[in-house]
Amino acid sequence: MFQGKKILLAITGSIAAYKSILIVRALIKAGAEVRVIMTPSAKDFVTPLTLSTLSKNPVISELFTEQAWSNHVMLGRWADVMLVAPLSCNTLAKMATGQCDNIVMATYLSATCPVVVAPAMDEDMWHHPTTKNNLAALESFGNKVIPVDKGELASGLHGDGRMAEPEAILQYLQDHLFQTRDLEGKRALVTAGPTYEPLDPVRFIGNHSSGKMGIAIAEELARRGAEVKLVLGPTSNTTHAKGIEVQRVQTAEEMYQACIDYWPSASLAVMSAAVADYTPGSRSAEKIKKTEAIFTLELSKTKDILASLGERKHNGQLLVGFALENRNEKEYAQSKLQKKNADMIVLNSLNDAGAGFGYDTNKVTIFEKGGKELAYNRKPKSEVARDIVDRIVNLLYA
Ligand code: CTP
Repeated sequence: MFQGKKILLAITGSIAAYKSILIVRALIKAGAEVRVIMTPSAKDFVTPLTLSTLSKNPVISELFTEQAWSNHVMLGRWADVMLVAPLSCNTLAKMATGQCDNIVMATYLSATCPVVVAPAMDEDMWHHPTTKNNLAALESFGNKVIPVDKGELASGLHGDGRMAEPEAILQYLQDHLFQTRDLEGKRALVTAGPTYEPLDPVRFIGNHSSGKMGIAIAEELARRGAEVKLVLGPTSNTTHAKGIEVQRVQTAEEMYQACIDYWPSASLAVMSAAVADYTPGSRSAEKIKKTEAIFTLELSKTKDILASLGERKHNGQLLVGFALENRNEKEYAQSKLQKKNADMIVLNSLNDAGAGFGYDTNKVTIFEKGGKELAYNRKPKSEVARDIVDRIVNLLYA
């Protein structure tokens, strides 16, 4: 994700500095080159030895020693981004006013690369008007500010001011600085959520799909430059992300119609919705009364949207479906690939903990038309979405 990227991490004196260790580790793991500088007071919270070991580079905490002067100018020119994490209230004030009394400030003032800050402070400090003014000043200089989290603070209070978690900081860098827009110019169709098949004015047949996986896929496609149409069934989850047009639908028939209309102009489609396979033959205009001892429902098959798009697929279009199984998973996933003329099937197994409906995590195996089978670990749905879109890009440009 950060292969070859040069990150200059500046650590300041805050209890959140312990998370900087995790940031270094995660960046190195993701392929980045990392150099660390720190203010003298940051050394009270984390040691240069830990950071130099993890970053595989010497750590600089002094502007100069008796023997040498640190070339802060070159550091700011070397880096693709300077990340100040955590940003203390004190360093924030210095950055806003241009004071230059340590290596972090000297580097900041001479940096030619983009600067991103991750503030960390107690709630009352966070809400102080001076803090707001100083942050506004930084933004007016073109620096980017990573939003703080709400939660338990060093003071024991609960509120705003926690530094964003390391994963969120990496994600921010990826989204705001290193985004690969490899789907620019592509139109993508995504279905998500359940469908509701009405029985009468108050009842329906539905399922527990939350739509979270499909929404995450739509957001990832849009982040990478695609123009996305999200056909979303009845769920309380939605998205307001840039580049996504959301069309709300209720029934399988409405979802089918929205997809069929859009598909001819799309480059790819990801069908992640849990579409009802059957719908009541007729909908009662009046509320059904409980007069019968045994009530029989006649259901008829809905149109299979994925298969219908598969039939209409033309050269260059890429079609992705999902499969949710609890037995013979591999066999069923592979047969769906054939039967529905899809290029990829994403399998969720009902046997995996933390995967499927309602969870924020998922564990998938991807089956591709060429015979490739890729099994992934359990991850947050946003990361699963990235894995799926990586494979889509790979097939699209194969
Ligand atoms: N799908 C669809 N339209 C339907 C039903 C399903 O587009 N009417 C899509 C889903 O969005 C998903 C895939 O098809 O991408 C799931 O395949 P499906 O055969 O419906 O799986 P199951 O519901 O598990 O079906 P079966 O009971 O036959 O295994």
